[in-house]
Amino acid sequence: METLIVDKSKGRVEVLPDLEALSLRSASIFVNASANSIAAKKRFAVAISGGSTPRRLYALLGSEGYRDRVDWQQVHFFWADERCVPKEDEASNFRAAFDALLSKVALPEKNIHRIKGEEAPDQSARDYEEEIRRFSGGLGWPVFDLIILGMGEDGHTASLFPGSKSVEETARLAVPVYLGEPKKNRITLTLPVLNNADQILFLVTGFSKAAVLSEIFEEKERGKILPAALVNPTHGSMIWLIDQEAARELRKRRV
Ligand code: 6PG
Repeated sequence: METLIVDKSKGRVEVLPDLEALSLRSASIFVNASANSIAAKKRFAVAISGGSTPRRLYALLGSEGYRDRVDWQQVHFFWADERCVPKEDEASNFRAAFDALLSKVALPEKNIHRIKGEEAPDQSARDYEEEIRRFSGGLGWPVFDLIILGMGEDGHTASLFPGSKSVEETARLAVPVYLGEPKKNRITLTLPVLNNADQILFLVTGFSKAAVLSEIFEEKERGKILPAALVNPTHGSMIWLIDQEAARELRKRRV
């Protein structure tokens, strides 16, 4: 693993050889974060993302080698975003995590706080907000112990897309994102929630993401306004795990 120094506000950037190494590294970060949070607060609230990159991480955490290294009774799963589809649907972020991880570990059903993609988008976003408030017990911004995010080639993260109104949301915890067709619509956590997390973990792989990473890390004009670039924890920490392919454009300034 190689650490790159980029703009301090971007947190720590670690370059791993490939998806497998990145997934193993993220699994150990998950295990440590859960242990620390459970020791301190008797709970670990984590919000996870969809997409292809975190799937290997979920499979690892649900596997023999990791299953017993986390006290799943104290872990609460939330989602950074969801597609507006039923939970059985192939495109469902809940289903992807359920098949790879949640169904493989001793996690109480009440600890699964999913976004109901099958409901009307705005109602689902409001219900999810209520669920988060019920869990975090208050009206202020909730503090997730860990939020796992990916990034698209266009610089979107969760379902916060460049130029979308959802990126400017300052009051709600979760909002609907209308992308034309109903099945394409999404529900996403908003930036203030992401930026209030104790720890943010970005997982980014593949050369298709190299150009946008360089725009973000080298603070090019467009790079400054991309949703992924607007994730800057106010009090928490942030780690970007990227693979060699995704790091190819980044000017290397070694430690
Ligand atoms: C989703 C995600 C989304 C994802 C990026 C990257 O629901 O799709 O939450 O934000 O993280 O699109 O996706 P890949 O990991 O597949 O490149």
